[in-house]
Amino acid sequence: MPRLDPHSYFDSDQPRTRHLDLDLAVDFDGKRVAGQVTLVLDRPSSGLLDLDSKGLVIASVRTDLGRPISYEPAPVEPILGSRLRLTLPAGTEKVVIAYETGPDAVGLQWLGPEQTAGRRHPFMFTQFQPIHARTMIPCQDSPMVRATYHAAVTIPDALTAVMSAGPQTGGGGSEPGMRTMLFDMPQAIPSYLIALAVGDLASRDLSARARVWAEPATVEAAAWEFAGVEEMIVTAERLFGRYEWDRYDMLVLPPAFPYGGMENPRMTFLTPTLLAGDRSLVDVVAHELAHSWTGNLVTNGTMDHFWLNEGFTVWAERRILEALHGEAAAAVSWAIGGTALREAIERFGADSPFTVLRTHLEGVDPDDVYSSVPYEKGSLFVGLLERTAGRAKFDRFIRRYIERFHFTSITTEELMTFLEAELPGVAARVGADEWLHQPGLPGNAPAFRSEALEALTSLAGGWAGGARPTAAQLKAWSPSELLVYLQHLPRQLDEASCRWLDGTLNLTARGNYEILVEWLAIAAGSDYQPVFGRIREVLMTVGRMKYLRPLFGALGLHPRTRALAREIYAAAAPSYHTLSRRVVESVMEKYDG
Ligand code: BES
Ligand code: ZN
Repeated sequence: MPRLDPHSYFDSDQPRTRHLDLDLAVDFDGKRVAGQVTLVLDRPSSGLLDLDSKGLVIASVRTDLGRPISYEPAPVEPILGSRLRLTLPAGTEKVVIAYETGPDAVGLQWLGPEQTAGRRHPFMFTQFQPIHARTMIPCQDSPMVRATYHAAVTIPDALTAVMSAGPQTGGGGSEPGMRTMLFDMPQAIPSYLIALAVGDLASRDLSARARVWAEPATVEAAAWEFAGVEEMIVTAERLFGRYEWDRYDMLVLPPAFPYGGMENPRMTFLTPTLLAGDRSLVDVVAHELAHSWTGNLVTNGTMDHFWLNEGFTVWAERRILEALHGEAAAAVSWAIGGTALREAIERFGADSPFTVLRTHLEGVDPDDVYSSVPYEKGSLFVGLLERTAGRAKFDRFIRRYIERFHFTSITTEELMTFLEAELPGVAARVGADEWLHQPGLPGNAPAFRSEALEALTSLAGGWAGGARPTAAQLKAWSPSELLVYLQHLPRQLDEASCRWLDGTLNLTARGNYEILVEWLAIAAGSDYQPVFGRIREVLMTVGRMKYLRPLFGALGLHPRTRALAREIYAAAAPSYHTLSRRVVESVMEKYDG
């Protein structure tokens, strides 16, 4: 009974699901999804089949021929949920489970109309990575299992559903006031890439294969912001091989979405905080697009190999950026990543096991240890391999890696075996064992320098000595360069400094959330009262964890800002995603008074 994934009851000796057929109704009043799933197995089977489930209310389990299947839900385990153990009668090929979701399904978020741009209709979306598919679907919820899927989703007829799949024509009316939409995903994907969103949605075509979906009130802005996506796809294809997923569509969610982006195949989910009005945050689209190769074609076998998804993807994202905007722009992105990595290592401690790339997370909730480490330490490791092998050789290696492992889920060890066969000696030369298995950042991490970067950081470093940027300098900076500058300023400033910064750089009014939040964190840490209103506004609407953590963190530094944080959190918590609440609470637990 080998269980190879510490975060799933999937048993590799048992049959595997090769296809899921979902027939679900989305009930906004009851905040639940109900219906049935048919699991199509890879062979006629008998005996035990262990599934993951969390909070689901199971109504019945049968074969497709209607024969009852005995099932036994095990007690709830806090991280994994409850094992649903079926005993299949001989010859079972399809298992039909009727069920509904529980009230606290972490994988679903339900928004009231007031949390949307249009303010008239409710909205719901799923977020299944890393281990939340089991809160909506009883399944083998491990990335080691890949399946195709088909879905019939019944929703209020004023709304539209999208999924990480291709739409299928047909469907139509069911009960009055409802309609059923059909979806078909012909490529085998891990369960964490199944995704659904339902709301008042409109779309705009960006190219023959790319389209953006958003609420009607935001769709024009979204179409403008992401107009360059086809150029990105073409660039990525040149680097990593043909785009294999047919369409690349995107959905802009309401601001409560807890991430910047999620690489749901054929339907990337994005936070509306990317709509800066100047296309300055499209690196997140480059990142999610790059997952179409690294992550969605070649997938981490378990969360212990999560760095394979994110480290390769950050590296790929910066290669796309470099191809489109040049080496200097990529260097700025590496610098911003470096800052995030230093902060993460500092948060865990440099000897923490959570700063290791190849992790051992049995008994650990992957959401609790989510950080920049797999992203940034991972991408530095890939960048070091690239430098050591030489770019031309490494680019050939990456293409072969994707060809060799596409549509499979692999471990770090499988990557390293392949690397040794393709580029012998490179792993030893870079000290791969230390990179993969030791905490902290190895001394041979590659540096991505540019003159412009050096000038920025030394200018910021001279703040206390009175150094200030000139008007001409400020005008020449890109938004990312301004961000680097702010990141290198002292975390606490006096009131006159805050006033000067905001007055000169017009920071509080920025539409670029990276800049805005960096500034608000400095201002909060400086107890700078004129921005408290703006901080409240941001925290009352935006659920993106990347912004909640630093803002609530900085608010912890003074009695007055702590009081503000508590007051805002009490008001905002009901509209936050479960995971966002968990992050904020863990930050506020560390407040001094
Ligand atoms: N796949 C991740 C998001 C994720 C990871 C969700 C693990 C749940 C568990 C996505 O590709 C991602 O990395 N998003 C980043 C943006 C990126 C530019 C680093 C984010 O949301 O900030
Ligand atoms: Zn990612």
